Amino acid sequence: MALFGKLPSNVFLAPMAGITDQPTRQIVHKKSRGNVTLVSEMVAINALSRKNSKTYRIADVRKEEYPVIVQLVGADPAMFADAAQLAAELGAAGIDINMGCPVRKIITSGAGSALMTNMPLAAEIIRSVVRAVNLDVSVKFRKGWDSQDINAVEFAKMCEDSGAAFITIHGRTRAQGYSGSADWQVIAKAKKAVKIPVVGNGDINSPESAKKIIEETGVDGVMIGRAALGAPWLPGQIDAVLHGQAPYVLTAGEIKNTLLEHFALLKSYYGEKLAVALSRKYVCWYSKNFYDAKRFRENYMKINDYHTALEEIENYFNQNEERTE
Ligand SMILES: Cc1cc2nc3c(=O)[nH]c(=O)nc-3n(C[C@H](O)[C@H](O)[C@H](O)COP(=O)(O)O)c2cc1C
Repeated sequence: MALFGKLPSNVFLAPMAGITDQPTRQIVHKKSRGNVTLVSEMVAINALSRKNSKTYRIADVRKEEYPVIVQLVGADPAMFADAAQLAAELGAAGIDINMGCPVRKIITSGAGSALMTNMPLAAEIIRSVVRAVNLDVSVKFRKGWDSQDINAVEFAKMCEDSGAAFITIHGRTRAQGYSGSADWQVIAKAKKAVKIPVVGNGDINSPESAKKIIEETGVDGVMIGRAALGAPWLPGQIDAVLHGQAPYVLTAGEIKNTLLEHFALLKSYYGEKLAVALSRKYVCWYSKNFYDAKRFRENYMKINDYHTALEEIENYFNQNEERTE
């Protein structure tokens, strides 16, 4: 697979709002030994331009010792340029433009996947960001708006003509949201239509599926979203297998230790109280496929104290280790 400039890998962790924050990026970076390209959560350009403190913190990647592509979402070309400059000052290694988000609040403002229905504005935004920063600018979009309006191929060409360094295509329409299965054939068609690198996204959940999408579509890179929830080692494992290494199955003890490391990172970034609240979703994801996980999760949801939470995780995963040996 072709390399994307200075990025560490052609395997990307997908931007996921509320998930791919600094602690999650750190754990994915660590578990992949630096061999995964990381993208931030989406950052609203209007909030960033206003220097809203929460948004500002999300976009600030200066303390991270690895490159982070910062994803921006919005609909105004001039504001996009300002926000991109700010993101560059805050340490972004690249700017990704969100043209795929299906969430109502985003599309009613003309942003996210709504831009797939307004190609002239989408093109103006890309050109405006490319002019504003001395960084690679990429675009992430979908198959199209709905089954009546599938325009990923034309959209890919427009991105290339507007100066995008690479594109990521999620093989679902806006109308599909996250349901149904991703259409990789449309990604293959778009790949054939452009010269810039194309990253395939949607339903890549194992090294085998990563190999399959590369074979079937010829994409230059792969992006992993939901399958990495509770499995921060997966993108790195995919990178390793694509480089000829054998896949590796983690023991219950290794999964427990990863969860505890992730929890510690959440604590140092958000503080103890918020980390405990946030750990609940991670505990659910990390415990999928484990014995009696439903009961463990129900108990865990009631815990508000950091030390009790740690004890509960230790006990549960240690019992599971005994059962699997
Ligand atoms: C909880 C959640 C949050 C997401 N947030 C974003 C986002 O901020 N920006 C974006 O471009 N895509 C976002 N996505 C879409 C993913 O990046 C990805 O395109 C999608 O999940 C399909 O890939 P997958 O099948 O590997 O999960 C989000 C997806 C999920 C499940």
